[in-house]
Amino acid sequence: MSSRPAQDLLINRKIIEQAEIADSEEGSLPLQEGQVRLVIDRFGLSANNITYAAMGDMMNYWDIYPARDGWGRIPVWGFADIIESRCSGLSVGERVYGLFPASSHVILQAGQVSGKGFMDVSPHRAVFASIYNSYVRLAADHHFRNESHDWQVALRPLFMTSFLIDAFLAQHDFFGANTIIFGSASSKTAFGTAALLKANRQNRRDYIVIGLTSTANLEFVKSLDCYDVVQDYASVPKLGNDAKTVYVDMSGNIRVRKSVHVHFGENLVYSSWVGVTHWTKLGLGIQLPGPEPVLFFAPTEFQNRMDELGDDVFNRQFHAAWCQINNTAQAAISLRHVEGDTAILQAYQGILSGACGPSAAHVMSFG
Ligand SMILES: NC(=O)c1ccc[n+]([C@@H]2O[C@H](COP(=O)([O-])OP(=O)(O)OC[C@H]3O[C@@H](n4cnc5c(N)ncnc54)[C@H](OP(=O)(O)O)[C@@H]3O)[C@@H](O)[C@H]2O)c1
Repeated sequence: MSSRPAQDLLINRKIIEQAEIADSEEGSLPLQEGQVRLVIDRFGLSANNITYAAMGDMMNYWDIYPARDGWGRIPVWGFADIIESRCSGLSVGERVYGLFPASSHVILQAGQVSGKGFMDVSPHRAVFASIYNSYVRLAADHHFRNESHDWQVALRPLFMTSFLIDAFLAQHDFFGANTIIFGSASSKTAFGTAALLKANRQNRRDYIVIGLTSTANLEFVKSLDCYDVVQDYASVPKLGNDAKTVYVDMSGNIRVRKSVHVHFGENLVYSSWVGVTHWTKLGLGIQLPGPEPVLFFAPTEFQNRMDELGDDVFNRQFHAAWCQINNTAQAAISLRHVEGDTAILQAYQGILSGACGPSAAHVMSFG
């Protein structure tokens, strides 16, 4: 058992600006058969996790790690160590990678234990995509075992999505388009995709990649050197619009999306909705001209690619993509370590409001 006090970062499900640190029972509740207790060593926090909160009720993210009435624990990706086990095949001291609550401790109901890892088989998690329920043993994670844990917790789920978007677009021959536009181009998921689109140009149709961002982030996005053109959101009407175009939107900003749909008109051949970094400007349900935005859901694409390629090829390809993107990422962003409950609360607010800016990748630990 751990001597640290067990704590949760709790978020008000209706007003996600309200956050608090609360004591957790998961450090001391007696384990049931098949359960393991873990200390969460560190986890990443970015707009991706804010999206889990902003879409928590709509996409059931709050149901993965239930909390007391009206409050939720946001899911985060990270590393955790088993400190107590009532599951045969899982030993104290093992480190795993996967989806945890933003907490210091967690109890998982382990099942389907294999050399590679295990699943959380709690009945309430059965409805979720398998990637959300699987935990990978670090010792068996050949491609990533020796990588920095900090870069992994900060970037792995984001660059996994970048890898999947690049593959998805290529598989569909870019829907016949020669222009690909990103909304929220400074986000890690967007620029990871742009870096891959740049690296993988050979043997593909000709395309240019345009990044749209806020005025404050223009210089940062230009410095990444992975977009052919970088513009702020207000400049959409000035972009050339005579080529077939795909919009890949990480912002969810309805005004920006509308300006893209209106400006590109019939030449907008596909509109992909990946994220909601501008989570206060969604305008859900508003009708737009042109193609209906289609949700890109990484867990579904992950499963599609896994089924197509098998574990080994998929993991090899993803690791190659990871190395390519990391050259861009590590030159442009720095890791920011956040330790302890007060610092976690402050960082959460900074990431939520966008004040933290694009050039930091946060690695959090309750300490
Ligand atoms: N669909 C999927 O399966 C999937 C998978 C992974 C990620 N995603 C989504 O991709 C998006 C990007 O995630 P990320 O972690 O890569 O982002 P990130 O690196 O944390 O993005 C930071 C950027 O987001 C914008 N931003 C953040 N907070 C803001 C605020 N309060 N107001 C206005 N702009 C704000 C700013 O970009 P600009 O100034 O450039 O707008 C900022 O530079 C998220 O919505 C995430 O959920 C989706």
